[in-house]
Order: sequence, then structure tokens, then C-alpha cells
Amino acid sequence: MKQFVHLVKPRDIEHGGIASAEIKRELREWGASAADARRAGIIAFEGEMNLIVYADHGGTIQVTLSREWIEILIADDGPGIGDIDLAMTPGYSTAPAWATNLGFGAGMGLPNMQRSSDEFEMHSHVGQGTLIRCRIERRGHDAARTGQAP
Ligand SMILES: Nc1ncnc2c1ncn2[C@@H]1O[C@H](COP(=O)(O)OP(=O)(O)O)[C@@H](O)[C@H]1O
Ligand SMILES: [Mg+2]
Repeated sequence: MKQFVHLVKPRDIEHGGIASAEIKRELREWGASAADARRAGIIAFEGEMNLIVYADHGGTIQVTLSREWIEILIADDGPGIGDIDLAMTPGYSTAPAWATNLGFGAGMGLPNMQRSSDEFEMHSHVGQGTLIRCRIERRGHDAARTGQAP
């Protein structure tokens, strides 16, 4: 089992996507298939952008790779989400102008994270923060061992 953690700084939209690209690269290095790493990359990217845009102190992305699954935990101590169902609605966004001016805020991040996950769980408390757990069941995780294409 392998585990690594990335810190994401608040409001640092210039560097948005760096942590998730790094996560994708690390997963590939440790034997995840291209397809699994790509799904993990989508989840990590959307999580990373939300940490940058909404979490006043930024947050962390923790990735665990086992033989059977990849788990991604995204945690922050930001403002939290009052209505999770509303936040999960495709197209719903409270992105501030500085983010929408740069093309962010389509309201598809959380739906994309859920769609890319086999298990998706979100916990949030207003004034305390948000924790999202995404799990991907690895497909083709035997590929590296047997030398077959994933
Ligand atoms: N970590 C977070 N902390 C507080 N609010 C969040 C967080 N992540 C998402 N949200 C809320 O959920 C909404 C939907 O998020 P998302 O689906 O990623 O779309 P977008 O980021 O484009 O608005 C956000 O606009 C915001 O209101
Ligand atoms: Mg988002």
C-alpha cells in the first residue's frame, strides 16, 4: 500500500492543476493503469480547484493506492457546505467573480467527482469544513504484474 499527501494553497488558481497532475504521475509510477490514473486525476483536479476557490486555508489531498483500489481524501477546514444535495446539483455554483472570470464555476466539479468514483462520500459542516472520500476500484491492476496491456 502506498500513500501520499498534497497540500493545496487557497486562492492560488495560477497553480491549479499542479497537485492533480502530480498525483496522476505518481499513481502511474506506482503501477496504476492509465485509465485508473486518469479517473483519479479528474477527481483530484476537481477537488484541488474546490480547495483553491472555496477553502479559506486551502486543504489536503491524500491518495492511497492498494492492490485493489485507489482512495482519494480531500479535506479542508473552510466554510463548509450547508446543503450537500444542492451543491451536488449539476450546474449549481457559488464561485466568486475572480474564479468565474477565469472560466471556473461551471458547477460540474462535484458531479464529475461522483461520476468518476465507484464510492463517493461527502461530509460537511458549516463553519467547520468539508471531507470528501472517493474510491476507485482498480481495473487492470494485474497488467503491471503480467505485463499485459491494461
Ligand atoms: N470544499 C468546499 N467548501 C465549501 N463549499 C464547496 C466546496 N466544494 C464545493 N463547494 C460548493 O459546492 C458548489 C459546487 O461545486 P462544484 O460542483 O465543484 O462546482 P463549481 O466549483 O464549478 O462551483 C460550489 O460552488 C460551492 O458552493
Ligand atoms: Mg468546483
